[in-house]
Amino acid sequence: MTITKVKSLKGEITVPGDKSISHRGVMFGAISEGITELTGFLDGADCRSTIACFRDMGIDIKQESDHVVIHGKGLHGLTAPKQMLDVGNSGTTTRLISGILAGQPFVSSLNGDESIQKRPMGRIITPLSQMGAHIRSIKNNNCAPLEIGGSPLKAIHYDSPVASAQVKSCVLLAGLYADGITSVTEPVISRNHSELMLSGFGADIKSEGLTASIVGNPKLVGQKIEVPGDISSAAYFIVAGLICPNADLLIKNVNTNPTRAGIIKVAQAMGGNIELLNERVVSGEPVADIHVTTSELHGCEVSGEIIPALIDEIPVIAVMAACATGTTVIKDAAELKVKESDRIATVTENLKNMGCDMTPTDDGMIINGGKVLHGTTVNTYIDHRIAMAFAIAGLVADGETTFDNEDCCCISYPDFFKTLNNLTNQ
Ligand code: S3P
Repeated sequence: MTITKVKSLKGEITVPGDKSISHRGVMFGAISEGITELTGFLDGADCRSTIACFRDMGIDIKQESDHVVIHGKGLHGLTAPKQMLDVGNSGTTTRLISGILAGQPFVSSLNGDESIQKRPMGRIITPLSQMGAHIRSIKNNNCAPLEIGGSPLKAIHYDSPVASAQVKSCVLLAGLYADGITSVTEPVISRNHSELMLSGFGADIKSEGLTASIVGNPKLVGQKIEVPGDISSAAYFIVAGLICPNADLLIKNVNTNPTRAGIIKVAQAMGGNIELLNERVVSGEPVADIHVTTSELHGCEVSGEIIPALIDEIPVIAVMAACATGTTVIKDAAELKVKESDRIATVTENLKNMGCDMTPTDDGMIINGGKVLHGTTVNTYIDHRIAMAFAIAGLVADGETTFDNEDCCCISYPDFFKTLNNLTNQ
């Protein structure tokens, strides 16, 4: 794929289903009684990994592109997998499934690709061990491969040192298998899809401030869920619509849950023309159509409580900052270092290669925007969000932007380049 500068960008698009909600729909459906039906499911590699893991534990799951039907077997209906579960590239699969596996009477093991084997799992090993789970890093390095399960769990209160929905959800899911109330307090609120969705499946779950708590041994019942578009995928086109000349984009049916929608606030703070239309609630989640037009952007500070609500969007926010006048400071985002790639390093390398004046810091980056960007070969580190963020930078860069790997988009947005091409070729 080669991206070149565009003269205008106009159109109406939808983006694939929300990745976080798609994973959870499959997992919660598998441990509920009866049928769960998901429409708008993200048919990407990560969510397919989740489906494969539950099929390996005896759950009948039918998938036809974005339509998924799960024949749940209840909290205690999973069977021991015959082989090591393969979580692929998916951190969400790894950490959430570990909470469920911790409550099973059988021992199982899981592993994933090279990137997964470097991501920190001590953050789930610690609370699950406190609950009495048997969980160990097979190579003794606090990373996957992991061996899990086979012991009864006790309810705990866990003060999480990180604002991570994956850690929170892992502990809450293990809490389904413990008598009494399991609770998690986080330093800053993270995405709350598990809380919203588990409540819909019939769990007794509460959120009060920074604490979420769940009562063990509920009866979960299968649900019909319409998965909204993923704001993390919409983010590329939000930024494209703001930074490209003569742009006018409508991105329909996007999840705008406030624990996810930090990019909208940042775009507004930078002077972006962005509006939410047709706001509604679908399957318990706020949804809207997002309208963006070409904007004169200026730098701003992105820090503090908003960070978990935009953590996956920081690569494309950095691209937006490079196209804004003035300085943008991104801080409190050290979590970037433990994503699919070290995103402080990978954003820095690619932005600098495009001619941006920026400095990486320990917990973010400082970007002096407004310099003309020039095309490069993007070093993706097989990180889907790096590939897509820099494709957007290519729309305003001189010369050609190419990629060392573009297949990695299949993790969260298999048709990304097709959608982009359709818009740019109009
Ligand atoms: C996710 C939570 C976030 C996010 C990831 C998806 C989830 O990770 O970066 O892409 O679905 O719970 P952390 O929990 O590690 O912050």
